[in-house]
Parts: sequence; C-alpha cells; structure tokens
Amino acid sequence: MSIESQNVTDYPNTNTIFMVWTFKDDPQLKTIFQQLCALILNLNNSAFNRFPDSRVSCVMGIGYDAWKKLELPKPLPKELAEFEEIKGVKHTAVSTPGDLHFHLRADNQSLIFDMAVEISKLISSVAESILEVHGFKYWDARSILGFVDGTENPHGSDRDYFAKIGDEDKQYKGGSYLFVQKYLHNMDAWKGLSTDEQEKVIGRSKENDIEMSDEVKPSNSHIALANIEGENGEELKIVRDNMPFGNPSTNEFGTYFIAYASTFTTVKKMLTNMFIGDPPGNYDRILDFSTAMTGTLFFVPTRNMLDEFSG
Ligand code: HEM
Repeated sequence: MSIESQNVTDYPNTNTIFMVWTFKDDPQLKTIFQQLCALILNLNNSAFNRFPDSRVSCVMGIGYDAWKKLELPKPLPKELAEFEEIKGVKHTAVSTPGDLHFHLRADNQSLIFDMAVEISKLISSVAESILEVHGFKYWDARSILGFVDGTENPHGSDRDYFAKIGDEDKQYKGGSYLFVQKYLHNMDAWKGLSTDEQEKVIGRSKENDIEMSDEVKPSNSHIALANIEGENGEELKIVRDNMPFGNPSTNEFGTYFIAYASTFTTVKKMLTNMFIGDPPGNYDRILDFSTAMTGTLFFVPTRNMLDEFSG
C-alpha cells in the first residue's frame, strides 16, 4: 500500500483553528485515542468528498509525552523529544506542554468549526484543552504586523521534500515534525516605528513585499536570521503556515507560528539564530515586538499510521 501523508503541505487557507490538548489520567485514554484516529481519517475523507473545492483538512500531531503514554505500536520517532527552551540574552523560546495538536484549515469557517466540535466532544473526557486559536487570512496574507508572511515558502515538490520525512528514516517516511509557537505582538511599540524602521526589522518592503539587497538588509532582521544554509551551502527550508489572530477589544494580537519539517534540526537552527543570534547577541529584532508564549514539538503520523493506531 502506498504511503499517504496527512495534509501537511496544503497551501495556507483563509480560516484556521489550532487546538492543543493535554491528557488527563483516565483509563479510557487508549480507547478514545483509537476512536480519535478513526475520526480524523473520517473527518478528512468526508470533507474531501463533500467540499472538494474548500481545501479543507485536519492534521493531528502527537507530542513526546503522549507518544509514550499511549504506548503506540511504534518506537518514538528519532527527533520527537520535549522541546528544550532556547534562552538568548533578551528573549526566550519557551517550552510548553501539549499532547495533541490539531491544525484545521478550510475556506469556510463552518467546516472547521464543526470538525473542532466533533474532536472536542470525543476527547474532552480524557484530555484538557490548553489552547484554542482561531486564525484568519489577513488581507493579502499579511501578519498582524502588516507584512506579507509566507513568501519564501517552498513550492511544488520542494514542499514535500522540506516538510516530509523521506528515505532517510523509512519507518516514518511521509511523517513530519510539527513545531508551533503562539506569539503575542506589542502593537503599540510596533506602531511607534516608522515604516522604514519596520522594514529593517523584517528585511522586506512593507507595501510590495520586496526583499532588501544584502548590502541594505540589517544582520538582525528577521529574514537575515531565519534564512539558513546547510554545511554545503544548500538552502534549508521548512513549510510555514503562520496565521494572524486578534481580539481588538482586549488589545491582544498575535501570530500563530506553525512549521512542518522533514527534520526538527532545521527549525531548531532557525530558532537558535533568532533567539541566541548570529553571532550570539545579534538576535532577531522581530522578538523585541513579539513574545513567544508557547513552544511545542509534535510528530505528525501518516494516514497509514493513523489507520494502524485506530486498532
Ligand atoms: C520569513 C513573519 C516567526 C522562519 C518571514 C517573513 C515574515 C515573517 C513577514 C517574510 C516573508 C516570507 O518569506 O514569509 C514572522 C512572524 C513571526 C515569525 C510575524 C512570529 C512572530 C518565525 C519563526 C521562524 C521563522 C519562529 C523559524 C523558526 C521564517 C523563514 C522565513 C521567514 C525561514 C523565510 C526567510 C527567507 O528565506 O527569506 N517571517 N515570522 N519565522 N520566517 Fe518568519
């Protein structure tokens, strides 16, 4: 049978719900988890069939503690571990708990809303909800900071190459490492900068999304530090689908950072560049306006594995 991945390489959609749950100590946990795996497959199959044009999907990721607690019929994926915080001179990439992560996408909020209801109904007796964020496409794919987000994402077959495990780890081929962080932005401080200063923080122009030349781009700009290379000069990429969210009445605005990668090492290297800095101390200026409130690593099994886990 062919290997079928979950929809990790889908292109960003207009509506998203992110949910993180942690397990309670409940004797029914393993049974409910089996049902959950079947439900995830069912929700996706049904949505693809009923709304083929909505680009709807639900991707489930499993955390390190969860993998052990569930005693899954497969050893821990190589790089699945508890995320260790990365502490720079000024900013910290915190590590926070999470047993299950759900990434729901559709062009229609009703679809993912109903999916989230079904998932929550099934697992709420054995798990506790610790995060729910409803993200949306803001104008032409802009973050709440006003800059277009996602431009340098891989395209075409590169998406598979950078997001999914390949032949290097045959047992987990088609799976993916998922890393998420919920960031809150200090919009008052951000708006205190001129457009010119904001552009220097990101490394691109605000209106037209054009990358600055290497001579002009500051070494502590976000894209200077997030753009990394391997030992032989090859570009190392991840597949990002960040989503803005916000509650204007409480002045809470943020970005839900989400990345799928064939190896967590690439994400970790980007985070180290951003938080510790390159060279150390030359940290990412975007962090002076964005605080990471969460940080959790998950593994996204293939659909074949979900089928196996469903018993
Ligand atoms: C690029 C926003 C966090 C990795 C960008 C761009 C924006 C942006 C506006 C430029 C357009 C693009 O190519 O997408 C944000 C915001 C963040 C955030 C608002 C959270 C506050 C992160 C984190 C990572 C990351 C945590 C990695 C762990 C990247 C990469 C690029 C990028 C790899 C492309 C760099 C290039 O090749 O030019 N981000 N980002 N970002 N970001 Fe972020």
